[in-house]
Amino acid sequence: MYTERVMEEFTNPKNVGELADADGVGEVGSPSCGDIMRIYLKIEDDRITDVRFRTFGCAAAIASSSMATRMIRGMTLDEAWDLSNGDVVAALGGLPDAKVHCSLLARDAIRAAVNDYRARRGLPPRETGSCG
Ligand code: FES
Ligand code: FES
Repeated sequence: MYTERVMEEFTNPKNVGELADADGVGEVGSPSCGDIMRIYLKIEDDRITDVRFRTFGCAAAIASSSMATRMIRGMTLDEAWDLSNGDVVAALGGLPDAKVHCSLLARDAIRAAVNDYRARRGLPPRETGSCG
């Protein structure tokens, strides 16, 4: 059912944890399954210098968080915002159709963290697409 890349990322996820001094934290919950993902960003000059996640969810959600956090480290906030769940799924070598929605959690949690950072700086939120 899962690709080898997904299994690797699930059994040995990268960037698990929290950042006490995060500049932006995003939490999203899936309306369909109730799973939760939280992403912590450290940001300098509009660039992501560090990132961690906590995911209370399925294997696909954990693999997607791990892969997405690897991908956005070093990106600008705009680049991270534009990371699509399709990018994450492709990097994972694919997800079963029924599990593609789980990768949306990663995109949405990243966007929520960027908006949290913006709010802390008094900036209006960017409009997020909703998952589902
Ligand atoms: Fe809930 Fe995958 S089933 S995130
Ligand atoms: Fe599954 Fe949105 S419904 S992540």
